[in-house]
Amino acid sequence: MPESVGEQRRVTRWAVAALAAAVVVAAALVLAGCDSPDILRSEGSAGNEIVTLAKWIFGILAGVLLTVWVILVFVIVTGKGRPEKEASQTKGNLRIEIIWTAIPAVIVTVLFILTVVITNRIDMPARGAQFTAIGRQWWWDFDYKDLGFKSPNEIYAPVGRRTSIDIESADVIHSFWVPQMGGKIDMIPGHVNHIHFVPLKTGEYLGECSEFCGVQHGKMRFLFVVVPPEEYTAWVERQQQPAAKPTGAEAVAGERVISSVGCGSCHAIRGTTLKGTFGPDLTHFGSRKGIAAYTLRNTPENLLRWIQDPQGVKPECNMPNVPLPLDQQQQLTAYLEELR
Ligand code: CUA
Repeated sequence: MPESVGEQRRVTRWAVAALAAAVVVAAALVLAGCDSPDILRSEGSAGNEIVTLAKWIFGILAGVLLTVWVILVFVIVTGKGRPEKEASQTKGNLRIEIIWTAIPAVIVTVLFILTVVITNRIDMPARGAQFTAIGRQWWWDFDYKDLGFKSPNEIYAPVGRRTSIDIESADVIHSFWVPQMGGKIDMIPGHVNHIHFVPLKTGEYLGECSEFCGVQHGKMRFLFVVVPPEEYTAWVERQQQPAAKPTGAEAVAGERVISSVGCGSCHAIRGTTLKGTFGPDLTHFGSRKGIAAYTLRNTPENLLRWIQDPQGVKPECNMPNVPLPLDQQQQLTAYLEELR
């Protein structure tokens, strides 16, 4: 019975379409739930321009898609039940050729002009950076050379004022990106790039490496904290101080441990004998919100876990597993958490 076969096919087609739609919706929900910043919720000057451009492009392209769909559905509906015959040929019809060449040409030209006008508003390089961001496998060195401190993996910036950054790399190509500030820029070994933008709203924003740079690329994050200007000044003053002297008994023991087990060959703590430059500066480690380039939140439990097994937490990172007795690991944790 041909009708029932046709019916069956139609039902199957609808089922496939419904399934595809369900998959798309489910994927969108899953992605929306990701612990990742929403690039369309910009809180920075450059980001606002980029979002404006994205909305224009999306709008125009959605218009194109919708037009095609409407025509397609119209043709399907009106053509249903008509006797099959060969389609009329349009080869050599100059008017039609001109029309369907002109329409895409106009669309592409409009997209081009929008892109040039809006990206030009982002007002790129002027020199005079406040600090240098250096990409490393797999963490961020933020070097405030003029102010005399480093603040790895966490930076503060005053709201409403221009943040201006020199961009470098110590090993491979990384890419500096705070999605909600907008703009991203490659960190290239042997070359200094520059980026600047104005943060427009206070808050904590996640920064990410957006260029694949090795196995732990996905765990190369940092925190960009936007605060009122007076709070920023206070932060700078705190960062300029040398490390606090430990007070608790465990922390005091921890200070002895850290200077005797070789941490100083990679790490520096200003005001102590640790002067390494290969790993993150730990002078104010306890004040930071993340560990290992924001792989873990900075809590004593997580820090202990990190000290005990860096290679388990972040395989192939440059921090080696150093075999230490548990009490020394706990003392180290106590000392580092006191470095506020
Ligand atoms: Cu650094 Cu990806």
